[in-house]
Amino acid sequence: MFKISLMDQSDLEEAFKIEQKINPSPWSKENFYSSLEVGHNSLICKVDQQIVGFIIFSTIKRESHLLNIAVLQDYQRSGAGSLLMASMMRQSKVMGSEKIFLEVRSNNKNAISFYKKFNFIQDAIRANYYLGEDPDDAVLMSLDI
Ligand SMILES: CC(C)(COP(=O)(O)OP(=O)(O)OC[C@H]1O[C@@H](n2cnc3c(N)ncnc32)[C@H](O)[C@@H]1OP(=O)(O)O)[C@@H](O)C(=O)NCCC(=O)NCCS
Repeated sequence: MFKISLMDQSDLEEAFKIEQKINPSPWSKENFYSSLEVGHNSLICKVDQQIVGFIIFSTIKRESHLLNIAVLQDYQRSGAGSLLMASMMRQSKVMGSEKIFLEVRSNNKNAISFYKKFNFIQDAIRANYYLGEDPDDAVLMSLDI
């Protein structure tokens, strides 16, 4: 049912709508649209012709950073996020990565459960990392791959 492919320019508008709808700390349009240009790796998950989720990450030498992941509400808890994560891990390994890092809002229990399912471990808390209307600490997590 789910199909993973590379994100390209023509996917940006649909993917950014998911970002705005789903992400607790959505990127600005400028950041989101420039992520392909700056060389981040981006994958989408489709059902038929509809984009239902995406993942954005960067790999530098032996480290990958999971920068963004979101799945449309109606498709959550049906494996799309796991497929995106597994694809990221595979690609990161191929590119020579040995470790994945990420940060997540401490109040984002769903995402933390998701990362724990993949055996990410908590490395540190960065206090008051998220500012604005809904301030929060960041949980820094990592996984050896
Ligand atoms: C985090 C997210 C991408 C997970 O995507 P998903 O497609 O729902 O994930 P999966 O269906 O592959 O779930 C895999 C496992 O993660 C855990 N998990 C996922 N969502 C969960 C939730 N709401 N509550 C508890 N555990 C959850 C479960 O262990 C689940 O396995 P199970 O369904 O067999 O119990 C999705 O919840 C999302 O888009 N959240 C909003 C955006 C966001 O917070 N992004 C992260 C920013 S750091």
